[in-house]
Amino acid sequence: MATSPFCTLGRRVDECARSDSGSTRAPSCRSPVPRRRSQCCRPGSGIAATRLGTLTTPPLDLFPLSARIEQGELTIGGVPATELAGEHGTPLVVYCEHTIREQARAYRTAAPEALVVYGTKAFPNVQIVRLLHEEGFGADVSTQGELELALRAGVPGDRLVVHGNNKSDNELQAAAGAGALVVLDAPDEVERAAAAGVRGVLVRVTAGIEADTHEAVRTGYHGSKFGLPPDDAVEVIAAGREAGLDVLGLHVHIGSQLVDTTASRMAVEWLAAFAADCRRRLDWTPSVVDLGGGLGVRHVDTDAAPTIEDFVIELRRRFQEAWAGHELPPPALILEPGRSIVGRAGVTIYRVGVVKRASEAVTYLSIDGGASDNPRPQLYGAQYTALLANRASEEAGCAYAVTGKHCEEEVLIRRVLLPSARRGDLLAVPATGAYTLAMGSNYNVVPLPAAVLVAAGVARVIRRRQAVEDLLAWDVE
Ligand SMILES: Cc1ncc(COP(=O)(O)O)c(C=O)c1O
Repeated sequence: MATSPFCTLGRRVDECARSDSGSTRAPSCRSPVPRRRSQCCRPGSGIAATRLGTLTTPPLDLFPLSARIEQGELTIGGVPATELAGEHGTPLVVYCEHTIREQARAYRTAAPEALVVYGTKAFPNVQIVRLLHEEGFGADVSTQGELELALRAGVPGDRLVVHGNNKSDNELQAAAGAGALVVLDAPDEVERAAAAGVRGVLVRVTAGIEADTHEAVRTGYHGSKFGLPPDDAVEVIAAGREAGLDVLGLHVHIGSQLVDTTASRMAVEWLAAFAADCRRRLDWTPSVVDLGGGLGVRHVDTDAAPTIEDFVIELRRRFQEAWAGHELPPPALILEPGRSIVGRAGVTIYRVGVVKRASEAVTYLSIDGGASDNPRPQLYGAQYTALLANRASEEAGCAYAVTGKHCEEEVLIRRVLLPSARRGDLLAVPATGAYTLAMGSNYNVVPLPAAVLVAAGVARVIRRRQAVEDLLAWDVE
């Protein structure tokens, strides 16, 4: 991950592009042998990028469903990128309403009987939670802040699922006050939830399954800080019933950015066996089962991810078979998708600033945001691609490393092919709708960008841009 992303051999650039953006990299790309290269020059600029002479623009299927290239420009929801940037400034996170609704409908169609709750953490926003509520969704929240946001969006308590590995008494009281379903995550939550007035609870259990995803978002293995080991979960179910809680069922969430169904299938099979064990040991069976979220999204063209339909239909089939296999009564189902709802719907538009050759191998294209609005590359080595939104039909022949404006060697995109870039161009980075702004920071006192929701040629602000004054207001002078 830390090696240079730049091919230093004379390999065909499209081969390098494939290997660089995929999960495995061709070993030859790590060779220190210098590559012969010509220069790609902006006329009159004197700034040289590495000229590689290959046409590649990221496929539009990484972008929201409404994305088009019209007259050489990227449009989303019928609004040209230049208009979005001109009116709302940059960086700007543009969410496509059509994509969000379609993803939500895909869940509802694939599992019509399930309660689907949006994993609010992916992008906590009142308007988006409200929009999803219109589509029949509830909300999964894991802090008091997310709970209040969901309530403000109008989600009723019976569609709220409250998580958290370290819930405070205040959070439990707020959950009880809202009439939400609480997912117990620790033995000491039994008494505290009962004292707070919580009624319905699920018990989160760790299935001991290692999902094939980044370790920071892998949560179903034995030893995870989330959930309870099976024997402890059995004790918590028994203690909860004794304490007068309505112990409705079980919860399992094995991780996020899952790009196949293997681990999820194993989890539902394991859960059915565990439920059968509970019946034997406690004479109790779950009437509700929450399978969490986790479906991944594609960020670069070499990524693969199942469709929502394929993922949910397969999971549901396995779930029903596993339950029937243990002769368990069919429970009500809850799903908690986050990333797969908003990930593809979001595109971040940045303004290009400095374009600077740093070495024979690297030319940096600097944007007006970076790690503060999208920490995923730094946190998880996440890969992205981009296009020049205002020159989307031009030949993409120059390789750039895209960097932000923060005081770290941050690289948002290790290598992308673009037309020879100029100060003032607009860089559009697709698949940035989930866990980007949501995990943003104010490092270097950089204000967080605005977000807009676009549909039918209209963009409306759903999150205001922060100002430097907002940030300075926290300091006591
Ligand atoms: C308990 C729980 N449910 C749902 C989600 C949402 O997951 P995703 O955004 O991968 O669908 C998460 C996120 O990790 C989670 O921890």
